[in-house]
Amino acid sequence: MYGLINIGIKDFIINRVSKKVWSEICNDLELDRDVVFEALNVYDDKLTYDLVGVISEKLSLEPAEVLERFGIFWVQYTGAEGYGQLMDLFGKDMITFLKNLNSMHARMGSMMPNLKAPRFVVEELSKNEVDLYYYSEREGLGPMVKGLLIGLSNRFGQEIEVHSHFNRHEDGGIKFKILIGV
Ligand code: HEM
Repeated sequence: MYGLINIGIKDFIINRVSKKVWSEICNDLELDRDVVFEALNVYDDKLTYDLVGVISEKLSLEPAEVLERFGIFWVQYTGAEGYGQLMDLFGKDMITFLKNLNSMHARMGSMMPNLKAPRFVVEELSKNEVDLYYYSEREGLGPMVKGLLIGLSNRFGQEIEVHSHFNRHEDGGIKFKILIGV
């Protein structure tokens, strides 16, 4: 994945946990604790999964919990780190934004030509209920999507409930039921 994600993970640990824990994580992965990830370089996905694995051990949290917490953080982080205006362009409420999420990642693709972006299909059942289907070449990131959705609800000031079993359906999609304003 693009280094921007690993930069986000590093920031997440340093700001939400501590520099000391970041140093320990780097130690375990044989990374320099002052490692500088380049936002626009592509790193092996394994590094990102390894980071999540070691964080899960260090913080005694399930990997799914780490991913969810990182997802919540990611919306705030990108919002504050130069992508807030980009997000504003694609919607100022949950449903509009979700409908535009593919276009937003496509826009990122102009800066990041090797992006393997996720794909989302939105089924609007009513103004308070959405079924979201998430498609990805990658495994195991469903809990991160849950966190991202919670992060978006914080951004837009809309209370939500998210339900998902995180299992892939026949066409590969993972379903999320989102109840808005509950
Ligand atoms: C401005 C905000 C955002 C930026 C800059 C951004 C950028 C990125 C980047 C660089 C990747 C790595 C993909 C790769 O390297 O192949 C990624 C992956 C991903 N993004 Fe975003 N993203 C943003 C917001 C969101 C939001 C709000 C969601 C969902 C609600 C989302 C869902 C995902 C998912 C699920 C992945 C993992 C890739 C996969 O599933 O295969 N992103 N994004």
